[in-house]
Amino acid sequence: MIPPDTTSKDPVEVAPPDSPSPEQQTRSEAARPSVAPAAGGGHDVVLRDLHAYYGEQHAVRGVDLDFKANEVTAIIGPSGCGKSTMVRCINRMHEEIPGARAEGSVTLDELDIYGDGVDVTVVRRMIGMVFQKPNPFPTMSIFDNVAAGLRLTGDRGENLRERVHRALRAVGLWGEVKNRLSEPGIGLSGGQQQRLCIARTIAVEPEVILMDEPCSALDPVATLKVEELIDELKERYTIVIVTHNMQQAGRVANTTAFMLDGELVEHGATTDIFTNPKDERTERYVTGKFG
Ligand SMILES: Nc1ncnc2c1ncn2[C@@H]1O[C@H](COP(=O)(O)OP(=O)(O)O)[C@@H](O)[C@H]1O
Ligand SMILES: [Mg+2]
Repeated sequence: MIPPDTTSKDPVEVAPPDSPSPEQQTRSEAARPSVAPAAGGGHDVVLRDLHAYYGEQHAVRGVDLDFKANEVTAIIGPSGCGKSTMVRCINRMHEEIPGARAEGSVTLDELDIYGDGVDVTVVRRMIGMVFQKPNPFPTMSIFDNVAAGLRLTGDRGENLRERVHRALRAVGLWGEVKNRLSEPGIGLSGGQQQRLCIARTIAVEPEVILMDEPCSALDPVATLKVEELIDELKERYTIVIVTHNMQQAGRVANTTAFMLDGELVEHGATTDIFTNPKDERTERYVTGKFG
């Protein structure tokens, strides 16, 4: 059953505090620079000498890191080591915090994300983000949550419905919500809300998905569903996932990067990081000796 799309104009919504507005999440197709696909159809993200500051505080200290297309990269490290800050630099959300700035380079294929004349809104459409706490737009229906970004790019009517449905199917929510699309998004369970937020992110067809501890508010069953989804999504996207859960990194990530005090200590195949790390600090962390 397809519910009527009764909203004829863009909804005016107040997003929860740490979530991007639909405007921040989306940008117009016309403004979208063309990015040459990497081998396999995906897109590589490369960080070079990335630094991030909050005023005087130096939170990310010269990180060089490559995120490969069609792979999942996990970011691990003790609380406060700069994981979230680093990830927020990748889609230029870090600079939204008053007093915060970033230096160094982030490139998506050939595109310098911090280059002159680059439209930040375009960057954030290409590099979507999913947060720790599921943050559906609180007053919007399930349908409208997923449609929010698409409406800003001009999708209407049947085309809009099709893309919303496709995104809901892609996150495995369709069967659970198809008969209640006009009900509030916040009426869903936590795990469903997080998959709704992932649907909202992929609806606008990004190249890269950043996930900052996406399962830490979810129960084990919901966590498993999101992990299975991540495994499917990597066929199409470059995925970066911050996680506190080492088993999760082991289950979902091709490679894992260990950060400490704002620096990247080590990045390698996930099995190597957990069973045969090169750096003694990584070894101490993964064996639970600190952090
Ligand atoms: N909005 C902020 N304002 C000031 N300092 C911040 C802010 N967010 C994070 N920090 C600081 O930056 C450092 C890195 O934090 P964060 O990136 O959140 O670490 P992690 O995600 O690894 O726990 C910490 O010292 C933290 O206190
Ligand atoms: Mg964090």
